[in-house]
Amino acid sequence: MSRKITYHSVRASLGIPLIVILLLSSCKKEAPAPSPYQPTPYQIEIPFGFPTNLNIPADNPMTVEGIELGRYLFYDGRISGRTHPDSLMSCGTCHLQANAFECGIDHPTYTGGFPYGITGKPTPHVMLPMINLIWNHTGYLWNGAVLNIEDLVWMGVVAEHEMNSDTNRAKEVIQQIPGYPELFQKAFGSETVTMKNIGRAIAQFIRTFISANSKFDRYLHGEVQLSPSEISGFILFTTEEGADCFHCHGGYGNPLFTTHLFYNNGKDSLFTGPYEDPRDRYHVTGDPMDYGAYKATTLRNIAVTGPYMHDGRFATLDEVIEFYSHHLVWSPYINPLMHHITNGGVQLTPSEKADLKAFIATLHDEEFLTNPAFGPPEKFPDEK
Ligand code: HEC
Ligand code: HEC
Repeated sequence: MSRKITYHSVRASLGIPLIVILLLSSCKKEAPAPSPYQPTPYQIEIPFGFPTNLNIPADNPMTVEGIELGRYLFYDGRISGRTHPDSLMSCGTCHLQANAFECGIDHPTYTGGFPYGITGKPTPHVMLPMINLIWNHTGYLWNGAVLNIEDLVWMGVVAEHEMNSDTNRAKEVIQQIPGYPELFQKAFGSETVTMKNIGRAIAQFIRTFISANSKFDRYLHGEVQLSPSEISGFILFTTEEGADCFHCHGGYGNPLFTTHLFYNNGKDSLFTGPYEDPRDRYHVTGDPMDYGAYKATTLRNIAVTGPYMHDGRFATLDEVIEFYSHHLVWSPYINPLMHHITNGGVQLTPSEKADLKAFIATLHDEEFLTNPAFGPPEKFPDEK
């Protein structure tokens, strides 16, 4: 698809610098026509107390135009390389904002919290939320196998248990949709749709998903008081003799509520042979101490992301707390931070369990779940 750059549009977008360019080009006769590619840098506002080291690849700086394009693509089912209304699938088909970008346990289609791809094949593990991923430096997915969000995009397009498509089809379909080529030009300086730039745009959009306005955040800012039960739960969460959750899930000077690291948290005793999961951390590192280890996910918005653990074995937070309290299972691979293994768990009393749950509920961030900027666009580029 060719694109005409008129003198008028160049002048309009470049303004005064055009004079400079004209002066320069008068010295160098064959200079190429200046491109109107001028994306607007997007400044991430780092919330108070959050880490300052962000995971933004050097070759994909965040721009207003990139994020806008990424939002369309994230929600456009034609990214699956299909156009028939019955066969569309987008990232947003499974990743629902109201469930912190998981499908959730109550979704009418994805009963039980296991989503399935366009072929009806279920995903091997349950979902992960997309919360504060711009602070994740240790790899994505339950086992950390993928190092950047950009790559997860084409992987989602081709995976049999997701869109079951191919990247050529995806980019050809997007290229043909009126409006998209211009958006790619604005975001990346070329109207040609590439899978690389589709990945870049969606990754930029996902990096804007910041949760920093839960009740607990407002408590840290001195804006609200926690109830006595919530405070007791916070103390349990962050003490070794209490519920001992903080080593892996943060909370003490770590507002992300995850270390983004991988642990075996004592759910099973056997991990090899027929019990082996080809998608645990061991299969990324080859270190036997990583058998049965998975990402310790963030506990922000945890109430809406059930079922829990990589295999969705627990349906409710009560079951999770019951597990950490009384049902830990020893194996040689259990992480040494599971300090209470000899007692089978942290042995919380019923009122302590209620306090712990009340504290975890203060990590619920309604603004994150409803912020229209993270939701679907009102219209797609060809509907304008
Ligand atoms: C069929 C449902 C489905 C679709 C469609 C889908 N995903 Fe996912 N996504 C999942 C599941 C399940 C996981 C967890 C996979 C795992 O670790 O085993 C996941 C994980 C992720 C993660 C990792 C989060 C983390 O904390 O590590 C990102 C990022 C992601 N998906 C982005 C996307 C993007 C971008 C698209 C669109 C191109 C997409 N997904 C389409 C189901 C889906
Ligand atoms: C040794 C590190 C460690 C400790 C200590 C720990 N966890 Fe976890 N937690 C994990 C890991 C790893 C996972 C994911 C395991 C999996 O998917 O199989 C997890 C998963 C969870 C989940 C489910 C997350 C999801 O998205 O499905 C919840 C809820 C949770 N932990 C709460 C707690 C609470 C509450 C405590 C304290 C009583 C605690 N954890 C202590 C490592 C830990």
